[in-house]
Amino acid sequence: MTSRLPGFHKLSSAQRRVQLAKHAGLSEEEVSWFERALPVDVRDRLVENVVGSFALPLGVATNFIVNGREVLVPMAVEESSVIAAASHGAKLARKNGGFTAHAAAPVMTAQVQLVDVPDFGIAQRNVHASGEAIARAARAAAAGLEKRGGGYRGLKVRTVDTQTGKCLVVHLYVDVCDAMGANAVNSVAEAVAPVLADVTGGRALLRILTNYADERVVTASAVFDKDELGGAPVVADIVRAWAFADADPYRATTHNKGVMNGIDAVVMATGNDWRAVEAGAHAWAARRGHYRSLTTFTVNEDGNLAAQIDLPLALGTVGGMTRLHPAAQASLKLLGVKSAGELAEIAASVGLAQNLSALRALVTDGIQEGHMRLHAANLALAAGVPADRVDEVVEKMLSSGQVPSMSGALDVWRTLAAP
Ligand code: MEV
Repeated sequence: MTSRLPGFHKLSSAQRRVQLAKHAGLSEEEVSWFERALPVDVRDRLVENVVGSFALPLGVATNFIVNGREVLVPMAVEESSVIAAASHGAKLARKNGGFTAHAAAPVMTAQVQLVDVPDFGIAQRNVHASGEAIARAARAAAAGLEKRGGGYRGLKVRTVDTQTGKCLVVHLYVDVCDAMGANAVNSVAEAVAPVLADVTGGRALLRILTNYADERVVTASAVFDKDELGGAPVVADIVRAWAFADADPYRATTHNKGVMNGIDAVVMATGNDWRAVEAGAHAWAARRGHYRSLTTFTVNEDGNLAAQIDLPLALGTVGGMTRLHPAAQASLKLLGVKSAGELAEIAASVGLAQNLSALRALVTDGIQEGHMRLHAANLALAAGVPADRVDEVVEKMLSSGQVPSMSGALDVWRTLAAP
């Protein structure tokens, strides 16, 4: 299987689904979910006051190689250029073997906040001395995970000074296997809280996971060939653009937004919790005291561009929406991932590809060139230009220097279609 699908972008969406089914071994029924609404019984049980479902475009990024494996990446996103940019970045990475990625063990952290603690020194010592009782309560609450080889992994005790006084905070670590893990760690926090209250003499207030899943960090890296990028000056300018983001929170926010364009789209296509991922990513970006870039770019000894990303990614391949949503299931099958870690490795690689493409565009033509082309194509389609003539109309519209519009597209189309 190769993720190089030349001409894929020129097919109709129905033809693309047929090609995907053949290429990635999905059944007709499975790919059909890419264009069907969420089943009513699933949808109506997921949230409250349901009135319908809300669709987003689902596309497939091509060209990805992650840890030596060719992968086609489903992406749910409304913004034009994102899927093209990811595919382009992945294509540029292929010359040096694609992306190398590593996800840490899927350990989530729950927090138990203890207030009204009479003596912090004694409380801390008692927590450590009660490790056995805490582990028993945690293991009982995480019995399903324990059976699958995951479960309770230990604790850490912290004190936090707040505006309403000092509190003791106990972090409980839980290996959630292939789940995102929120339910599991929350259950552990609630089960262990009474034991902690008892041994500290305090009151357990909050018992909830932290979305700053800093035990669950994934890294991905790739080397981009200088000639494919446009030469040594482009490489140097990409490093300058990265350094700007790393130094300036205003730029870093946009830079990281570009990274998350890619990651969120994979997170959404696979039915995962993108708010959790977003919250964790930005906290990670600020971990050294100011908000910085999630990626790093340097010039290596061959003059090529070495790129890296690291961030926490709490993703699941089992449980929750991933299991209930047939399109998320089909997305996971398309990805061919065997674990949540593997999914995180691909998502991080997509974030890196996305960022590389954005920076390359920004330091060369500027971002509007590509955006305008896609924007103009969307307008032409909306104006009723037949799909196979859209490129011609876009070319004419842009070369005339006019700002793309539906009426402009129609005018061009009328002149082209006139006998
Ligand atoms: C647009 O959605 C994302 C970019 O602004 C990212 C960036 O500036 O690096 C192009």
